[in-house]
Amino acid sequence: MTLEEYLLHALDPVTDSRVKEAMQYSLMAPGKRLRPKLVMLTAQCCGLHEEDAYPAAASLEMIHTYSLIHDDLPAMDDDDLRRGRKTCHVQFDEATAILAGDGLLTEAFCHIGRSKYSDSVKAQCMKVLADNAGADGMVLGQILDLTNENNPDCTYEMLEKIHLNKTGRLFSCALQLGAIVAGKSLECARLDEVGLLLGLAFQIQDDILDVTSTSEMMGKTIGKDADSHKSTTCSILGIEKSEALLEEVYEKMLIKLGECSFDTARIVDLLIEMKGRKR
Ligand code: IPE
Ligand code: IPE
Ligand code: MG
Ligand code: MG
Ligand code: MG
Repeated sequence: MTLEEYLLHALDPVTDSRVKEAMQYSLMAPGKRLRPKLVMLTAQCCGLHEEDAYPAAASLEMIHTYSLIHDDLPAMDDDDLRRGRKTCHVQFDEATAILAGDGLLTEAFCHIGRSKYSDSVKAQCMKVLADNAGADGMVLGQILDLTNENNPDCTYEMLEKIHLNKTGRLFSCALQLGAIVAGKSLECARLDEVGLLLGLAFQIQDDILDVTSTSEMMGKTIGKDADSHKSTTCSILGIEKSEALLEEVYEKMLIKLGECSFDTARIVDLLIEMKGRKR
């Protein structure tokens, strides 16, 4: 079974409703699936079969998809295009989109609960998901992002804090989940550092692409950051310095990854592929 086939059936236990329809609509839109791929690859590098990482991978993709649905809401970034399709609140309505996000967030935990993982692995997965997605993780990054809109005094230090939390935390979660389901939770501390740096790099790129790419290529509206007076890597450092910073962060991240006690060559390949991304 492929990950896409697994995701397609991941919401089967949920009772049919308009909210479930909206959850399916956003989850099955063509995302890049980078976080689940990282869960699977890390688990594989730690000796687990790829398919045994699907429950953890799917739960993280549910949480990531919820974060996108809410990020696009009129009260947040107010976007109408996501993954090449109408955003959830445009396709359905705002109330349904809010509830679809709530549903995906909660279902992620139900999904781990229903999995065949041992109780200890389930508990570790739920803790790492909650810690990284919650009010001291991705949610903190999102509120700092919003409160720094229209703030001409936003420093690079604050921007880094925003990136590490709003984007880094879910990438950290991906790598840690992979190690946990493979029984290698001792690697989590180092993988956390790698994941945060990856998120920082990924968001620097996202900010650059918001200036340099096209909506067709990205599947989301480009130029929104400047229109919304967001404090971004490009608005604070300019594009050239942002690109140099991206290289620096990548170098640091790959050195950290090399300190892991297992063979990370296949993770490195995906990270290099991600650096060349155009969407
Ligand atoms: C978008 O993430 C949100 C950011 C952290 C910039 P992705 O670019 O991974 O989105 P999908 O999953 O491919 O749609
Ligand atoms: C959002 O960052 C990251 C999330 C936690 C969803 P952005 O607001 O820059 O993401 P895009 O550009 O809308 O995908
Ligand atoms: Mg945002
Ligand atoms: Mg956004
Ligand atoms: Mg963006």
